[in-house]
Amino acid sequence: MEVFLPLLLACSLLFTIATPIRDINDVCASQINDFQHLNSSGLHLTLHHLQSPCSPAPLPSDLPFSAVVTHDDARIAHLASRLANNHPTSPSSSSLLHGHRKKKAGGVGGSQASSSSVPLTPGASVAVGNYVTRLGLGTPATSYVMVVDTGSSLTWLQCSPCSVSCHRQAGPVFDPRASGTYAAVQCSSSECGELQAATLNPSACSVSNVCIYQASYGDSSYSVGYLSKDTVSFGSGSFPGFYYGCGQDNEGLFGRSAGLIGLAKNKLSLLYQLAPSLGYAFSYCLPTSSAAAGYLSIGSYNPGQYSYTPMASSSLDASLYFVTLSGISVAGAPLAVPPSEYRSLPTIIDSGTVITRLPPNVYTALSRAVAAAMAGAAPRAPTYSILDTCFRGSAAGLRVPRVDMAFAGGATLALSPGNVLIDVDDSTTCLAFAPTGGTAIIGNTQQQTFSVVYDVAQSRIGFAAGGCS
Ligand SMILES: *[C@@H]1O[C@H](CO)[C@@H](O)[C@H](O)[C@H]1NC(C)=O
Repeated sequence: MEVFLPLLLACSLLFTIATPIRDINDVCASQINDFQHLNSSGLHLTLHHLQSPCSPAPLPSDLPFSAVVTHDDARIAHLASRLANNHPTSPSSSSLLHGHRKKKAGGVGGSQASSSSVPLTPGASVAVGNYVTRLGLGTPATSYVMVVDTGSSLTWLQCSPCSVSCHRQAGPVFDPRASGTYAAVQCSSSECGELQAATLNPSACSVSNVCIYQASYGDSSYSVGYLSKDTVSFGSGSFPGFYYGCGQDNEGLFGRSAGLIGLAKNKLSLLYQLAPSLGYAFSYCLPTSSAAAGYLSIGSYNPGQYSYTPMASSSLDASLYFVTLSGISVAGAPLAVPPSEYRSLPTIIDSGTVITRLPPNVYTALSRAVAAAMAGAAPRAPTYSILDTCFRGSAAGLRVPRVDMAFAGGATLALSPGNVLIDVDDSTTCLAFAPTGGTAIIGNTQQQTFSVVYDVAQSRIGFAAGGCS
């Protein structure tokens, strides 16, 4: 390692001098113009898989796949607790909150909310299933690597002076004192009142009357800090008065990213704050871990290129994106389950969950059908964590049957081998689905390489194949 470092530095310096405009690594340079579904009027951001060699906040390359699955399970537990409206992982023992008044949900009261003391285990998680992009913040703008998340609303990032804790991140930590447009948000503001709905945790109030948010993610990762306002920018577009969290106590690793961008359906999400200028829609293509990049686009998209399914509404959580799964077929044959089984659980589509979770009867039928279609072609391998349908080989090297996931209204995800199987080590690949008793989730392995549009204005979700590689 040490031997290569001076060489790498010298090379990157040379490249920087030779090509001042483009990225240091040509392979990783944004190919945003190459994505066929992008509409030129949208706001375009480059998305990276956290395990991509091009990620600006890469994960350790020797990270075992079991860490991915462990994090995925924690995320499921978090989403399930959101939906059950009880939140067992509130970071209420953060020392930032000690001595401060907790605000009751949506109210202005100063009474002490009962504080459940959940033991915190800092650094226990890695958000490996997630995707990162860059966001500019402050005046003058500085750029930060941020996880993109459709399953949460509040955008936050680690913030100087990190009065309790910051994890290691790529690049410097945001310093509010260095921004000419930064403002802390008062406890009486309506945005402070919105935090309960956005984070499902009560807000608190500092002695100097600044609103304190608590965002938690169910895998013992969380961020607590000051609700703040500043100019946010992406490339050439800049948006003043953006509300976000300035994190003073940030526990758990989000790769080496600085924070998180929330895209769920809530007034505080990035989507809703930018929508008055850009429109109430965003689209993305999640690249595979070996690809250079995909994209996130906010605002305009090309409606003619997608097939749609209505956003389903659910009283469980108004901020998550629900869809209606209507059927699955393997090699053209529908699974042997009654259609009602697909609707037996509420189903969300999520950018941050790696493995799709299905109602148990649907999962069992899918597992059997895939195993039957692959019998003889691939020797079975032992189960791997929650994945029980495994084969010797790799997704790219085996003959994998086509799996079609159909949604209400006719939208279909026609899955390729890389969307069906996930390689868990050098010699084993597993069906990238698992059963659940709680909420069914369309995960990101199945969405990879498709363009997916979330059109909140028209309450529909669309899919188009061939969005990125
Ligand atoms: C791009 O977006 C604009 C504005 O929303 C829309 O009018 C146009 O039809 C879109 N282009 C395509 C090719 O769909």
